[in-house]
Amino acid sequence: MLYQNLYIENAEHTSDIRVTDGKFEEISGHIEPRPGEECVDFGGKLALPPFIESHVHLDTSLTAGNPDWNLSGSLFEGIECWTKRKQTLTREDIRQRATRLIRMYAVNGIQHIRTHIDVTDPKLLAIETVLELREELRDVMDIQVVAFPQEGIESFPNSKQLLEDSIRMGADCVGAIPHFEFTREYSVSSLNFAMKLAEKYDKLVDVHCDEIDDEASRGLETLAARAYESGMRDRVTASHTTAMHSYNNAYVQRLMRLLCMSGINFVSNPLVNINLQGRIDTYPKRRGLTRVKELTEAGINVSFGHDDIFDYFYPMGTGSLREVVFMGLHACQMLGYEEIRSSYKFIANNAARTLHLGDRYGIAPGRPADFIIMDAKDYYEALNTNAVVLASIKGGRTISQSTPASSEVLF
Ligand code: FE2
Repeated sequence: MLYQNLYIENAEHTSDIRVTDGKFEEISGHIEPRPGEECVDFGGKLALPPFIESHVHLDTSLTAGNPDWNLSGSLFEGIECWTKRKQTLTREDIRQRATRLIRMYAVNGIQHIRTHIDVTDPKLLAIETVLELREELRDVMDIQVVAFPQEGIESFPNSKQLLEDSIRMGADCVGAIPHFEFTREYSVSSLNFAMKLAEKYDKLVDVHCDEIDDEASRGLETLAARAYESGMRDRVTASHTTAMHSYNNAYVQRLMRLLCMSGINFVSNPLVNINLQGRIDTYPKRRGLTRVKELTEAGINVSFGHDDIFDYFYPMGTGSLREVVFMGLHACQMLGYEEIRSSYKFIANNAARTLHLGDRYGIAPGRPADFIIMDAKDYYEALNTNAVVLASIKGGRTISQSTPASSEVLF
């Protein structure tokens, strides 16, 4: 199969892509079709490696208004709604919502998902269900599951056992939530436990780290130090790190050295954190996002995720990471020309590093033929015009396709 005339990752000139047996066979300026070979000429559209959702909660998603709406929009009312809703969770409910969201993702060019699943439920219902889905959908969606101890590791009864059970059941990553632990000591010890568990089972780590406006929340330094000392390095990810927004600059300057040495990844969730952070401020109101611009300029790997989609914590979302990037660039003041053009990396190449996809990812000969084609010639135009994903191709198979909407001006 020959895909013709595509601008690969904002390239200046178009290329043709030949896919054979589910892999990229050849990529070049012009490829002569073989006799009888199927060809599609895209006439100068953008080809990108597939989009990646690097942080979502499939177990809470698509619950907004069911049965209650979060009327204030605050985190506290969100937690109240979720605590009530959690009592009614069934396997079928989780499965239906997760499947619906995965199909929404597919339309938007997403082929990889890292989902955090709450494992402070003694029945471990949600993680069991999502692990089943991971296997069932393997051909169309690559799902990575983080065992996430929502109520804490040290501050919730039997949490350590539930976390280890979840890893034994097949979760891919160990989670933690140090800023939610009762004390500073618990916070440090929860991170030590999570890191040791990940080492024991050879798993990745992704921590809800310092998702609070408290400048004294310093889980990040402990996580980075352990990642450095243990050699786990880029197998470790710090999600949110919103407290870093409020750290004093002298402290950040010192911290940056450790962050660079540690090699850890960051995930920022611009839609949710611009909504939830700074809530207790009067004015000025903090934006509450981690320092994406500074981390990026320091060569540290940062990706963007949704976190929540249409649930009690964030009531919007269509499954399009375009919205996430759009908000991230605005809130982090990253609207320079090159910053906009290359911003797909936050939901593509950078996220692939976070998920440790290695040679399974990227448009290059010999790799799996996973890519998307957008209705634009570069990502600047794609982002600005909200271009549709014309086709999402996974392993050489088209798993979703869209037709651009058309409008007429009648004057
Ligand atoms: Fe989260």
